[in-house]
Amino acid sequence: MWDFPLFPDQASVNAPKLDALMLFELGVILFFTLMIALLILGFCVRFRRGNPVDRSHAPTHSKAMEVAWIVIPLLISVVMFAWATRLFFELYEPPSDAVQIDVVGKQWMWYLQHPQGRSETNELHVPLGRPMKLNMTSQDVLHSFYIPAFRIKQDVLPGTYTSLWFEPTKVGVYNLFCAEYCGTNHSVMIGKVHVMEPADYEHWLAEKGSGPSQAEEGERLFVQNHCAGCHRGSQIVHAPKLEGIYGKPVPIQNGDKVEFATADYLYIRDSILDPKKQVVAGYEPLMPSFKDQISEPDLLKIIEYIKSISNANANTNATPETAK
Ligand code: CUA
Repeated sequence: MWDFPLFPDQASVNAPKLDALMLFELGVILFFTLMIALLILGFCVRFRRGNPVDRSHAPTHSKAMEVAWIVIPLLISVVMFAWATRLFFELYEPPSDAVQIDVVGKQWMWYLQHPQGRSETNELHVPLGRPMKLNMTSQDVLHSFYIPAFRIKQDVLPGTYTSLWFEPTKVGVYNLFCAEYCGTNHSVMIGKVHVMEPADYEHWLAEKGSGPSQAEEGERLFVQNHCAGCHRGSQIVHAPKLEGIYGKPVPIQNGDKVEFATADYLYIRDSILDPKKQVVAGYEPLMPSFKDQISEPDLLKIIEYIKSISNANANTNATPETAK
C-alpha cells in the first residue's frame, strides 16, 4: 500500500527545469543552514566558560566581512530571481501550436473536453510530445488542477478562465489531483492522466466513432438556444455578427465614451450570461441573460464555435461599423 513517492516522475518538458531550480534553492538553504548551525556549535564549544582561550582584542567590526555578507547573498538572490522569472514565463506562456483542452471542475469531479469532440471525466488522455493547453473554469467553488509529474498546478475559479500547459515526455499513467480544499469530497476529486503514443491517441480519439467536434456541438447549442435567430443576420432583431470577432477588439458603449474590450473567452462568456454589462457600441441592450440556463461545458462549446467561425473567416470584417 506504500504508494507515496517523495519525488514524482519527471514527465513533462518543464519538469526537469523546475526541479533544477528547486534543487539549487534547496542547496543554498542547506548550505547556509548548516554553515550557521556549525559555527554556532563551534563557538559554543570553543568559548564556553572556563575554557582558556584568548578573549582580548575581540574585533568589533570587519569591513571585508560586511561587504561579503551583503554582496554574496545579493548575487545569489539575483540569480534565483532571474532564473525563476525566466522559468515562470516559460511555464505560463503556452506554445502557439498547443492543442487546447477545456476543463471544468465541479464538486467533485473533473470534466475534460477534447476539441475533436470526445470528453471524459477524471481521466485525461494526451499524446506524447505534443504541447497541450488547458483552458479551465469551475462550475461551483475554487478547485485547483494539479499534475505532480508535470510540475503544474493552477487554481480553477468560477466565473473566469485560467490556463496551464504542458508537453508530456514519457508514456505512462500519472496522478491528477484537486489541490484546493473544495468541500466534503475534495479528497476523492482525483484522476489519472494517460500519456499515449500519438498513434494510440488518435485511436483513442476515434474510439467513440466520428461524433461532432466540440465546435460543431457548440453550433448545435448556438441554434438550440436561439442565439442564431438574432446573431445570424436576422432582419427583425439587430444584433452583432459573431464571425471573426474572437480575439479582436470590440467597441463597447460606456456612457458617452466608446471603449474597447478583447473578445476572449471571458468576454464572450460574460456577454452570454450578463449581456447588459458590456453592450457593443451601436446596438440596443436587447439580449436576454442566459444565466443558469447553460452549463459551463456547454458555454465552452459555444465559445469554441464562435472561435471556429473566427478562424475560418479570418478576413471577415464583422465589426459593427456598418450598424451606425
Ligand atoms: Cu476540487 Cu478540491
